[in-house]
This record gives sequence, structure tokens and C-alpha cells, in this order.
Amino acid sequence: GDAHLITHAMAKDTLSKIRDENTEQVGFRKGLVKLGRICGYEIIDGAMDTEYVSINTPLTETTGERVKGLDNVVIINVLRAATPFVEGLLKAFPRAKQGVISAGRNEDAGMNENGEFPITIDYVKLPEITEKDTVIVADPMLATGSTMCAVLEEVLNEQPNPENFFVLSAVSAPDGLLNVHEKFPEADLLTVSIDDRLNDDGFIVPGLGDAGDRAFR
Ligand code: PRP
Repeated sequence: GDAHLITHAMAKDTLSKIRDENTEQVGFRKGLVKLGRICGYEIIDGAMDTEYVSINTPLTETTGERVKGLDNVVIINVLRAATPFVEGLLKAFPRAKQGVISAGRNEDAGMNENGEFPITIDYVKLPEITEKDTVIVADPMLATGSTMCAVLEEVLNEQPNPENFFVLSAVSAPDGLLNVHEKFPEADLLTVSIDDRLNDDGFIVPGLGDAGDRAFR
């Protein structure tokens, strides 16, 4: 797969709002919901086909255009920071099946020499994936990519290759994108911003802080 920037002006606007340290919890969560919706529409625009259909307006019969494949969408929510982001995605994909996976970095262990964190997975509940599906694995932050790689291992385990396979983040670090791309070349990586770097604690700089804490505490 390739890496693709989501460049919609409202995506950049909303990301700037949630980066701002003065955006408090409610604003932060609402921003993530909004960003999820925008990213959902961008995925539809960039990757999904449409078909012409005959419809009747109150006045006449005419040709309309509908998006195909909206019944074959699977969204994976990587707890916990992805929850508001996924809430927004569900506004674009109301009929999506949803998977939930709880994966967290073991921060105390620190980054190893490969720039990765050990990941603990506590809970996995995933729908079946079919060849027809558009799968979106959403996590607002892709830092070292350790979490995403552990999640993808679970998601792809003994499943057929879906039609579209997206890893969606709001902010990513270059190292994390590279890491995920190397281990899962079949995934298309979508992000609103590729930030400068990771600091020594594995935080994205400039980033937006700890998304889980800002949305939930
Ligand atoms: C954050 C973030 C990602 C992960 C990214 O989650 O939401 O899941 O770190 O880092 P990585 O790419 O280096 O793995 P965190 O572990 O803080 O859990 P939380 O969402 O529950 O706060």
C-alpha cells in the first residue's frame, strides 16, 4: 500500500484546534469526532466507487449517484484514544461493523533499540472480515507504530485479504509510518499530518500530547 495525506482544509483546521493546548476536554473530544467524520468522507471520496441509480424526486424521475460498498465497512477501534475518532467515522459509515481492541504501550519498559515499545493487548473482539470489505483501523496517534503493528497482527490473523485496508491516524511520526509499512506492506496508510519526530519518550513532536488523557480525563 502507499501513504496518503488527508489534505481537506477542514481536516487541517480541526487538527490545529486539537493540537492547541488551550483546547480543553470537551473541545478535544468534539474535535476528534469531527476529524473522524472528515476522514471518513475523504476515504469515501478517494477509495470507494459510486453507481448511477434511478430515483424519483417529488417532481420527476432522474438519475442519482450512490456510493457503493457502504454495507461492507469494518472499523477497528483501538482503545482508548480512538473512541471519539471512531464515533466520527461512524457518522460517515453508519452501517459499519465495528471491532474493538485494547492495546497499550508498556511505557515503563521504554523504547527498545529498534525504537519500539512492548505492547500489552487486553481485549480483542473483532467482526469477521470478507474480501468485499473496506477495513479501517483507526488510532489518532501513530508514534513508533508498535501499537498499530500489534493490532494489525490480531486483525489480519487468519482473515482473507479485504478489498481496501486502511490504517488511519490523525498525527503520525515518520518512524511509525515506516515501521507499519515495512511489516504490513498491504496496508494503505492515511494520516492528516506527518509530524517532525519522536522525542526520547516516544511522543510525537509537535503532536497533540496524550490523546487518551486529553479526551478522557
Ligand atoms: C497511544 C495512542 C496509540 C499509541 C501510539 O495510546 O493512542 O494507541 O499510543 O504509540 P505507538 O505508535 O508508539 O505504539 P496509549 O498507549 O497511550 O493508550 P491510550 O489510548 O489508552 O491512552
